[in-house]
Amino acid sequence: MRTNNFRGRDWIDAEIDFNREEWETLIHVALDLKRRHAMDDDQTEILKGKTLFSMFFNQSLRTRCTFAAGIQQLGGFYTELDPGKTYTPARKGFDIPYKTERIADVARVLDQVGDAIAIRMYGPPAHWIYGFANSTLKEFAHYAGNPIINMECDKFHPCQALADLITIRERFGTFKGVNLTMSWAYSGSIEKPRAVPQSVVLAAAKMGMNVTLSHPKGFELDPEVISSCEKFSDQSEGSFRIINDFDEGFRGAHVVYPKSWGSVPCFNYTDKTGKTVKEQDHKEAERLNEAAKGWKTTAKQMALADKQGIYMHCLPADRGQEVDDDVIDGPQSVVIDEAENRLHAQKAIMALIMGGRR
Ligand code: CP
Repeated sequence: MRTNNFRGRDWIDAEIDFNREEWETLIHVALDLKRRHAMDDDQTEILKGKTLFSMFFNQSLRTRCTFAAGIQQLGGFYTELDPGKTYTPARKGFDIPYKTERIADVARVLDQVGDAIAIRMYGPPAHWIYGFANSTLKEFAHYAGNPIINMECDKFHPCQALADLITIRERFGTFKGVNLTMSWAYSGSIEKPRAVPQSVVLAAAKMGMNVTLSHPKGFELDPEVISSCEKFSDQSEGSFRIINDFDEGFRGAHVVYPKSWGSVPCFNYTDKTGKTVKEQDHKEAERLNEAAKGWKTTAKQMALADKQGIYMHCLPADRGQEVDDDVIDGPQSVVIDEAENRLHAQKAIMALIMGGRR
């Protein structure tokens, strides 16, 4: 287990950029910090005096409170820069006089003042262009020497994936032989990003689980994510398959993770030059969504899973649409463990990339 590979690195496409051994190190460090937290051990020397700036272009409960608490438990400071109250950071071509400020300037200023910048962006602030938010984070990284932390963009939510791996490791003690199903589920909103399903299938494939991705037709994930999942599961000797059958996804699963995400027509797509190649079609997205209204997790689906099977959801969940109350509040549900593990996961990420050994 290597410990000196982390300092100064960005946490943006972490499922791709950090190798399996590095994910194992993060899990070990997070579980150690969790144990120490339970013992009420002082951890304030770990990032003493370091400052984390956060920018939320979208709403958040879990990510906001766990980053705020986490950096302070490690002895650092947390400052939230509301993009509506500062000058909204913008890329070239999206400037509005005296309302926006170029990312080149924002990133370099924050770099001089603090020690890391954490950003959440997807959907309307990213103009619904798939990949726009991810490349915005990379533009910050281009200008900032300090680490950039992805708090969920339109492609990935690696903090959630790490918390979920920790939760699975706690329950099963291993990843090998664990059957995980990431399934689409119905919600009255068509606007949820693909970040969680994409991060979870990538991380699970990287760690060697038997991964099933289940969704109705029209809700396909990014083809590049799918090829990486296939490559990772070959390397880790796990497995990866895609199905279009809700109940089948639950059969024999140790981990079920049914949640909503936006269908293919929800987003605008551009080529490498920024030219629009496919425009979003909300009418078609609504049609696809309503056609799959039956994809709701009930006790009937949970009965198909393994007897030791667990129900996961990153939250917030749309109760009565994605899932019945008796499932999310039932004995197989680990949703609150996942939320708590966000704290320990992010403390491990910050401890290693903002501090750590060179
Ligand atoms: N799971 C998650 O990222 O929750 P929030 O949207 O509340 O931050």
